[in-house]
Amino acid sequence: SVPERVESLLGRMTLHDKVGQTHQVANIHPDDDADLLRDGRIGSSLFASGATGGNERDEGVLAGNIDAAQRHATDESRLGIPVLFGRDVIHGHRTVCPIPLGLAASFDEALVEEVAALAAAEAVVDGVAWTFAPMVDLSEEPRWGRVAESLGETPVLSGRMAAAMVRGFQGSGAAGVADESRIAACAKHFAGYGLSAGGRDYDTVSVGENTLRNLHLRPFRTAVDAGVCTVMAAFNDVDGIPMHAHRHLLRDVLKGEWGFEGVVVADWNGIGQLVFQGVAGDLRDAARQAIEAGIDLDMCSGAYAAHLADLVESGEVDVALVDDAVRRLLTLKFRLGLFEKPFVGDPGRSNAPTAQSRAVALRAARAAHVLVSNNGVLPLSPDVGTVHLTGPFAEAGEELLGTWTLDGRGEDVVAPATAFRERLGDKRLLVTDGRFSDRAVQQVRNADVTVAVVGEHPWRSGEANSVTDIGLPAGQLDYLRQLSRIGKPLVVVAYTGRPLELGEIMDLSDAVIVVWHPGVEAGTALADVVFGDVSPHGRLPMTFPRTTGHIPTSTHQRPTGRVIELDEDGRLGRYLDDLVFPRLPFGHGLGYTTFEYGDLRATGSTELPLDGSVEVEIEVVNTGARSGREVVQLSFRDPVAQVTRPLTELLDWSVLDLAPGEKGTATFTVRADQLAYHGRDNVLRVDPGEIVLSAGPDALHGSRLTVSVTP
Ligand code: IFM
Repeated sequence: SVPERVESLLGRMTLHDKVGQTHQVANIHPDDDADLLRDGRIGSSLFASGATGGNERDEGVLAGNIDAAQRHATDESRLGIPVLFGRDVIHGHRTVCPIPLGLAASFDEALVEEVAALAAAEAVVDGVAWTFAPMVDLSEEPRWGRVAESLGETPVLSGRMAAAMVRGFQGSGAAGVADESRIAACAKHFAGYGLSAGGRDYDTVSVGENTLRNLHLRPFRTAVDAGVCTVMAAFNDVDGIPMHAHRHLLRDVLKGEWGFEGVVVADWNGIGQLVFQGVAGDLRDAARQAIEAGIDLDMCSGAYAAHLADLVESGEVDVALVDDAVRRLLTLKFRLGLFEKPFVGDPGRSNAPTAQSRAVALRAARAAHVLVSNNGVLPLSPDVGTVHLTGPFAEAGEELLGTWTLDGRGEDVVAPATAFRERLGDKRLLVTDGRFSDRAVQQVRNADVTVAVVGEHPWRSGEANSVTDIGLPAGQLDYLRQLSRIGKPLVVVAYTGRPLELGEIMDLSDAVIVVWHPGVEAGTALADVVFGDVSPHGRLPMTFPRTTGHIPTSTHQRPTGRVIELDEDGRLGRYLDDLVFPRLPFGHGLGYTTFEYGDLRATGSTELPLDGSVEVEIEVVNTGARSGREVVQLSFRDPVAQVTRPLTELLDWSVLDLAPGEKGTATFTVRADQLAYHGRDNVLRVDPGEIVLSAGPDALHGSRLTVSVTP
């Protein structure tokens, strides 16, 4: 069995061998690092970018280098322990799909699982055994660039999407990783990273344990329960204690209370950063604090390799802590099948997108389109006269892949202009690049409709890319104002890695679609939506604030002593100079038809026993002339609890596909444990009393029903 094999191997390891397993390096150069590999001094390697000794993007280079390194480690070292290779495969490997925020917008777990499975299958061919995804940091802060990589702002959506990604990457094998086409996943960054002060990446985090437990830890718990193999520590501190030294959250909560048996990996130089964060005097001290806190694998700081053996020999660190880390790492390697099959096998195999992989990417890209406003201009009729496609992304390739696409290639991307040209031919399509000029004015006048593809370059979101202003990048709003002034129909398509300030853009255009960064099928998916082959059905996974000054906004605002109603009349006090409620609430999204909701009602009793459930349902009718998909969202509010609870919180959702005139029923089973929260003592509890449920098309609108939790 795996535990027996681990114990037998551990028994033969020297302290030096053990420390080697806890050491992760960046970018192995198989020839240069041959001695370290033979000596077992590298347990794991992270190929974050370039530099394995050739251009990794060239077919077979990554795989070839991984095989060469593996050969030194397995065939030439004393114990033959394979190296574990990791890479940031975040939303596709070669076949890039929408960024995670766009995947979350689909509200489609099966689709997200498929995307992750595709990414795993492609990554395996390149020798990658482990990815650093999903990122499950709750994102309430649109200035923070990493929201692009997140799965939204609510624990339920983020957690369920994360679990879907874990199933996709790892398969559903009970022991960790199901088969040879799968890789290990990593829930990151534990914990609180989404609350970085001011939205500045890597910044400090001030949050109490109660809010952490009631919101931010929950998607991690869901990922752990889904069997995620690894968890990555966050760069930030939490209320003064850096996460790489946070014994309570890592060892007591994650490994203790939750029983997580996998590997806790540091973030890049996260252990070394304890020195800069001012809690460790030097790297040796940092190594001691990190191993005590429960960090099993040192990503690239070198602290463990340099100091762990000495710390054990001097009696400052108990060898049992090192054994525990190594046990977890070896278990992962056995479960991944690395001892049986350390080599890629066929390094030359092509990874280029295939018809099948493109079909998955296309479905995912379509599902990421969120139609946020439309006065009826969309969909365009197939016999619309002439279309003017304009903006910096009209001919874009690589720019539409999004953040963290180490292996994606611009040449794989279908640009919007290419897809539009395929439908309209050269004569009915006019393309300009997004600079206001006589030519652009002329083309607006010549065309029946202008589609402006604007937004953010991927380098404006993602890691280390925060902004102080969530408006469109310089010049773009002005350009849209000028286009709008000409008075012809204007559709705005926003490619973005974060919520943008959309108010004025919605006012001056006829329709706005938020598309995130959609991946290789960008253009095809956009044309499918704009011309109505597909009715858009994405929903916003984050609240869109009115302006940057309104941040933070999220569905989880809690009642103050004054305004407690979450409606459009006001919310949590007021600003003197603007309305206070969000521009677009969490969950918002339109289609090409309309839906009417009935009343939320219980199918039986409204009494909810502590160990039981109630069933509620709501009827939805497609009142428009086209088929469409509605994402019925069930939220709740706990009006009296030991601690202040969110004004509304997503509990569940149900997807209805309805033909014109068709009536559907969304049915939800609500269990008492779904309403549980951590009380004043931070212990999970459910209180008897009233709970207000609400079902509707987004977080702000819904039909309410009160149920009673009974003892
Ligand atoms: O996985 C990432 C992490 O999210 C941020 N720092 C670097 C890691 C490895 O590339």
